[in-house]
Amino acid sequence: MKNLFDLRGERILITGAGGAIGGATARVCAALGAELFIADLKAPTELAGELKARAAALDNTKRKDVNALVEDIGPIDALIDTSGYYVKGDWLDGGDEWEQLFERTMAINVKGPINLVRAVLPAMMKRGSGRIVLTSSMAARNAGSTLAVEPAYAASKGGLSALVRYFARQAAASGVVVNGVAPGPILTPLLVSANQPFTVDQYPMKRLGQPDEIGWPAAFLASRGASFTTGAVLDVNGGMCFS
Ligand SMILES: NC(=O)c1ccc[n+]([C@@H]2O[C@H](COP(=O)([O-])OP(=O)(O)OC[C@H]3O[C@@H](n4cnc5c(N)ncnc54)[C@H](O)[C@@H]3O)[C@@H](O)[C@H]2O)c1
Repeated sequence: MKNLFDLRGERILITGAGGAIGGATARVCAALGAELFIADLKAPTELAGELKARAAALDNTKRKDVNALVEDIGPIDALIDTSGYYVKGDWLDGGDEWEQLFERTMAINVKGPINLVRAVLPAMMKRGSGRIVLTSSMAARNAGSTLAVEPAYAASKGGLSALVRYFARQAAASGVVVNGVAPGPILTPLLVSANQPFTVDQYPMKRLGQPDEIGWPAAFLASRGASFTTGAVLDVNGGMCFS
């Protein structure tokens, strides 16, 4: 039987690859044999050297740049978007500062993925195959469990989870699948920037997740093994789904 998790011969674009989860996901996909294109605000050239990937600078909020990169790369089998933005503000009394924070959060976490999907989905649908993986958050469902998460972030990830299902419906008849991963607390700079006191004792596994523990499930969703999985937002949270 053919191993459908094997990514040899698969051309995969990973955005947000300069970040912790994106970088770990790129390493997992490289270990599984994928031909990788990795992008972030600043081109992740060092990682590209390590993984023999092609690196590019990309701001996902700039639709023209997203289109240009996708055109330059050519046909891809999968997109994994791991880019994301979290800044905490004062939504009750924050004034203009919070308005800007809200706009920026939505631009990166919601409009950015829309730009990426608009750029890659039509060609995938035409070819009748492709996989798209977007990165939501458990904050989409439960406002971040034990951490009091920024409401703009919770709203943006709620929107992203809704979009996963929307894109999945649009694409299903063509054979393209669209899914999401919803990480719980993963030890990354983004979590540390949330700047909230917590102890791991409050988590069911008594530890935070590691970035590659998101990378492996994301790689599955980007593989041919996910051919009948679509519209799913996979909880990867060490058992925190009900907290
Ligand atoms: N760390 C966690 O606990 C956690 C939990 C739930 C969800 N997530 C999500 O996982 C994803 C990865 O997060 P991470 O923890 O690795 O954080 P990270 O900050 O290490 O990575 C995020 C990456 O996104 C990039 N980025 C920001 N704005 C961008 C833009 N406009 N265009 C392109 N790239 C941009 C950043 O440069 C960064 O490299 C994010 O979507 C985040 O919301 C993280």
